[in-house]
Amino acid sequence: MTTISLSLDTPELAQAYERGSDRQFNHGKLLIEALGVRRGQRVLDVGAGTGRLAAHVAEIVGAEGSVVAIDPLPLRVDIARQKTHDNLTTAVGRAEDLSAFAASSFDVVYLNSVLHWLDEGQKQRAISEAARVLKPGGKLGFSTGSREKPHQLDPVQRKVLAELGKEPPGAAPYNHKVTVDEARALLQGAGFIVDALEIRTFVDHAADIDEILRQSRSGSFGNHLSHLSVDEKREVRERLARELEASRTPQGIRLERNLIFAIAHTAAN
Ligand SMILES: C[S@@+](CC[C@H](N)C(=O)[O-])C[C@H]1O[C@@H](n2cnc3c(N)ncnc32)[C@H](O)[C@@H]1O
Repeated sequence: MTTISLSLDTPELAQAYERGSDRQFNHGKLLIEALGVRRGQRVLDVGAGTGRLAAHVAEIVGAEGSVVAIDPLPLRVDIARQKTHDNLTTAVGRAEDLSAFAASSFDVVYLNSVLHWLDEGQKQRAISEAARVLKPGGKLGFSTGSREKPHQLDPVQRKVLAELGKEPPGAAPYNHKVTVDEARALLQGAGFIVDALEIRTFVDHAADIDEILRQSRSGSFGNHLSHLSVDEKREVRERLARELEASRTPQGIRLERNLIFAIAHTAAN
């Protein structure tokens, strides 16, 4: 199994994520809408990155509510901390260990584009920790990459890396996506009642291969292609560009992205 490193982030990658994460921000807003987040609620954003979505949620819950945003990458938490909302607090922290928070202390917990960075054991611990810190009847939401319907970039990238004999070590390249059935099992394993579980498809257009690679690197906090030398990266870039030009439309290189959206709640007392 591929190990995701949390040591490859840089100030440049963190800033690039802050500037270039409209996709995650936009599907995150859909997740918040599906969760029905409202004024006065106490919300935990797990894996908040640079805090763009947490700041949006801070506006929704207003002064009577509050948002806590945690992420394991200190450089991204530093950017989140600069967001000046009195009801938003930030901390370095990990999904699988929410011991900093008391049981039954949040109305809503969410993980937007985070779960696929956790390995199998971490995922179940993360969902169980969310259940512990949620109040009875509290809601959990997550969006995460779908393994049964992967991002259109995945097979192209796999093909190019296989041609060069440069598959990343381990079976799963760069992340650990789940299927809908696995997502349901994770939720039920932590005692959640599942309200909605579906795959949603988004269409993105990129100007060129460099935009795609920039987003892959900043979104993966430096993990994407990190096992390759500079020359190997150049070769992969050229081959990917050739393959992806076939998907160019007048708006740019067209790629479909499929995400599992899950909404669940804990039993009321
Ligand atoms: C693609 S970013 C998503 C950031 C943010 N949620 C958003 O919507 O823009 C993935 C985030 O997951 C975080 N992450 C990775 N491993 C994690 C873990 N074990 N616990 C919590 N977050 C983690 C990364 O630090 C990174 O900020």
